[in-house]
Amino acid sequence: MRSDRLHLLVKKSYNIAVVGATGAVGAELLDVLERRAFPVERLRVLASARSAGKTMRFHDEEIEVQELREDSFAGADLAFFSAGGDISRKFAPIAAGAGAVVIDNSSTFRMNPDVPLVIPEINGADAREHRGIIANPNCTTAVSLMALFPLHVAFGVRRIFASSYQAVSGTGSRAIAELKQQVAQAESNSPAAPEVYPHPIAFNVLPHVDGFLDTGYTKEEMKIENEGRRIMHLPDFRASVTCVRVPVYRAHSVAISAEFDRPVSLEEAYEVLRNAPGLDTVDDPAANRYPMPIAAAGRDNCQVGRLRRDCAFDNGLAFWVSGDQLLKGAALNAVQIAELL
Ligand code: A2P
Repeated sequence: MRSDRLHLLVKKSYNIAVVGATGAVGAELLDVLERRAFPVERLRVLASARSAGKTMRFHDEEIEVQELREDSFAGADLAFFSAGGDISRKFAPIAAGAGAVVIDNSSTFRMNPDVPLVIPEINGADAREHRGIIANPNCTTAVSLMALFPLHVAFGVRRIFASSYQAVSGTGSRAIAELKQQVAQAESNSPAAPEVYPHPIAFNVLPHVDGFLDTGYTKEEMKIENEGRRIMHLPDFRASVTCVRVPVYRAHSVAISAEFDRPVSLEEAYEVLRNAPGLDTVDDPAANRYPMPIAAAGRDNCQVGRLRRDCAFDNGLAFWVSGDQLLKGAALNAVQIAELL
């Protein structure tokens, strides 16, 4: 990583590389760059050798996918990475060394103190400290913090207990295909064996996201505490989470019970959430209105609802948040970081 880098990019338009462009997040990135009219001078779409020669549409152009190589980043100003941890570990330092600012969607650099971990609405100023690589947070963390952080500013969060309901697109395009196939085979006497997940995901839920640790938690479950501490600048924040994969194609949801330092009032909590950036309050239970993945999918804003005083804490709030994890949990947040720069 270079330390002599200009911290802010100042050009009219930018040479951009997207690594993992053919994947679930990569395709979304192209869409977000186009939709937000990001000033792109030249776009390189990079993937594995399997995809070389395919084309991807950006604005009205068909752009040929190139195989990712060490010399892929010459002249690039910005490189978005979304091709998994191994690719980021190897190629992100190469891209940064070639002069690009890397915005990395994998977990590889998220806990590296030299790499800012950024949600623009929460700690955008941290992005200025980058030395060539900026990390995009875990998708469940991002969706949770969009609602938790404004409440923290108002009441001072101490700890949360949470369960997630995570969509298969968070795993990638193979998982989307696996769920589709299992749904189509529902009546079949000899359904195909699951490949992406250890058990069928159609008509099932798996209390298992990412690898297990010695403590019994999974790596995914600890990301909310570890990444939450960095993003909220809150080293004592504690989070006990159960992450669950559910047969939903798109958008994660999280049920959160949060304990605060100060007494909470529902009126103030609603006020804070209504004014929070990137968040819509959807909360009218009498009319069956609450956040749902089907409503959050495809939307930039996350949704919060089912707000109530938590009956098991003195200073507690329980709430439910849904958000498109391919957008706020990945591509949108990455492009927002680029916009900050
Ligand atoms: P490809 O489509 O050529 O396999 P997803 O998260 O949806 O599974 O997508 C993963 C992304 O990472 C895809 O764009 C995939 O490209 C890309 N990828 C996987 N392995 C490599 C590799 N060895 N080199 C470059 N890109 C890779």
